[in-house]
Amino acid sequence: MKDKIEKILKEVEDFSTDSLEKLEEFRIEYLSKKGKIPALFGDFKTVAAEERKEVGSILNTLKNNAQHKLNELKQIITLTNHTTDNEDIDLTRPVDFRNPGTRHPLSIVRRQILDIFSRIGYTVAEGPEIENDWHNFSALNFPEEHPARDMQDTFFISDDKTPSLEKIALRTHTSSVQVRVMESQKPPIRIVAPGRVFRNEAISARAHCIFHQVEGLYIDHNVSFADLKQTLYYFAREFFGEHTRVRFRPSYFPFTEPSAEMDISCNICGGSGCKICKYSGWVEILGCGMVDPNVLESCNIDSKEFTGLAFGMGIERITMLKYQIDDLRLFFENDIRFLKQFEGAL
Ligand code: DAH
Repeated sequence: MKDKIEKILKEVEDFSTDSLEKLEEFRIEYLSKKGKIPALFGDFKTVAAEERKEVGSILNTLKNNAQHKLNELKQIITLTNHTTDNEDIDLTRPVDFRNPGTRHPLSIVRRQILDIFSRIGYTVAEGPEIENDWHNFSALNFPEEHPARDMQDTFFISDDKTPSLEKIALRTHTSSVQVRVMESQKPPIRIVAPGRVFRNEAISARAHCIFHQVEGLYIDHNVSFADLKQTLYYFAREFFGEHTRVRFRPSYFPFTEPSAEMDISCNICGGSGCKICKYSGWVEILGCGMVDPNVLESCNIDSKEFTGLAFGMGIERITMLKYQIDDLRLFFENDIRFLKQFEGAL
């Protein structure tokens, strides 16, 4: 019996074919109800008790090998037939790029902003989205009772009982990255920090609880307000076009002194007045100023030796102006019809 099984085992092993008919014959001969293998299982009754274990094991191997051979050959034959017989497949046809996908407009604009600043020596810095009070507020010269720390604006992670100076929150601006960079690097420092920020605001066409900013910081000997103006003028012309004019209005931020907001001549009407600029000819694009000496000192930078400039802009705002998008929510809905309009942009 053992010899018989081993003989068939060899036959199964040696068998090969590329025709489905031959394969079917193989199945009938070995595996069908009246085939050789079931017949051997029938004979198994006659095997002496002491040989059963060994014979049973090779008999099982035979059955498994035959089944495996059948499956394997079937797969090979159908695959080969499919590709060789099907004349509809034209392997020389170019690939169909009907749905190539697009970059998100915020990614496009973030990249453009970083590119423009990298051309004048700024490198990219990043920081965490979950921040402590020190990096988001205290080191930036926010008084402890400043309204920006209020529950209304900030998403706190630590509970109500945590003392204000130990609180953990989602960062409300990328200015927190300034602090992290100043703590870990010595001047000269020249960075732009892009990232997501969070504020506890109701979602509308003009506001969202998540948005994106790019922060800029330059610290060295003798950095002046003239450097600030020239840097941002260069940025505005590079980004919005060479005819863009800028103006600075006095403003207030705890971390800069003096502080300003920068407007550009309306990129839609060129300054003559339209709906976008509310007929003023100007649109606000960013906040900026000279780094307050208190901020430098908080980060162990000698404010008698160094001065710095800083600026911060909202990526959504700039994208809306550039592409005339009038509803902030469009950036977060991922409606294919909206995103498709940016096809091909890098
Ligand atoms: N952090 C400010 C904000 O979120 C933006 C800003 C204003 C950043 C002035 C600056 C700056 O660096 O100098 O509204």
